[in-house]
Amino acid sequence: MNQIIDGKKFSQTLRDKVKNCVDLIKEKKGITPGLAVILVGEDPASQVYVRNKGKQTIEAGMNSYEHKLDASTSSEVLLNLIKKLNKDANVHGILCQLPLPKHLNEKEVINSIDPEKDVDGFHISNVGLLNTGQKSMIPCTPLGCLLLLKDRIGNLSGKSAVIVGRSNIVGKPMANLLLQENCTVTIAHSRTENIESVCSQSDIIVAAVGRPEMIKKEWVKPGATVIDVGINRVIKKIDGVEKTVLVGDVCFSDMAGVAAGVTPVPGGVGPMTIACLLANTVTASYRSQGLSDPEFI
Ligand code: GUN
Repeated sequence: MNQIIDGKKFSQTLRDKVKNCVDLIKEKKGITPGLAVILVGEDPASQVYVRNKGKQTIEAGMNSYEHKLDASTSSEVLLNLIKKLNKDANVHGILCQLPLPKHLNEKEVINSIDPEKDVDGFHISNVGLLNTGQKSMIPCTPLGCLLLLKDRIGNLSGKSAVIVGRSNIVGKPMANLLLQENCTVTIAHSRTENIESVCSQSDIIVAAVGRPEMIKKEWVKPGATVIDVGINRVIKKIDGVEKTVLVGDVCFSDMAGVAAGVTPVPGGVGPMTIACLLANTVTASYRSQGLSDPEFI
């Protein structure tokens, strides 16, 4: 069996499905799904993410609306823009790229987005809906992880799953999604005692802590499926030369002969996140027209 879970390939399949759904709503309802992305300031990593999101939105046949604002933009100006986008019928999804400059209140900004257009799934209403098992917008990274797990394992019911990391963006929503799949879920974090032993008893490990190569061979139950959300830039000596490389939270080379499946970094969860953002935008456009949700699983 192929051990590597190819997120790049899977995300292409998902983007193809999104494009089909876009074509269908254009034909059925005469509308083009639209995604508005707001970038405040000039954070280099955020600029790259926003550029990729715009490019892939257009490739999927949707409209992309980019709003680039100065780093000194006031809260009032930003909130007014969001108000305008909330009312704009051509905009089905709104994403405000994080992190925001320090003078802006992220929670206030996120919660000012219409929950039905909140394609990040970060609005407090969507968090509450997901926590109580109701229809919501699901945060893109955990949704991507879930799609990869279901594709690889099939029925997740009864599996033990540990999520390493308790962030609002990944850890907590991931735990809720896996609970809904009837997994037995543990959230492990920096204060968890015997974390290695907790992980080594799990059928599924989702690593989202931001600690380079923390999950070693001994942490993994033979035959487990390991999803690596981490993206860490580290300096490594390769052939005697120091180079900056990307590594995950999992020691990838350790997984050979232990894990049944593992996502690489890069090329695992990363490409799934943007594909799920496109999927959420299409879903939001379908809901806006009273259509039932497109199926991506
Ligand atoms: N910054 C890094 N990842 C994300 C994301 O998924 N959504 C938003 N809005 N900002 C981010």
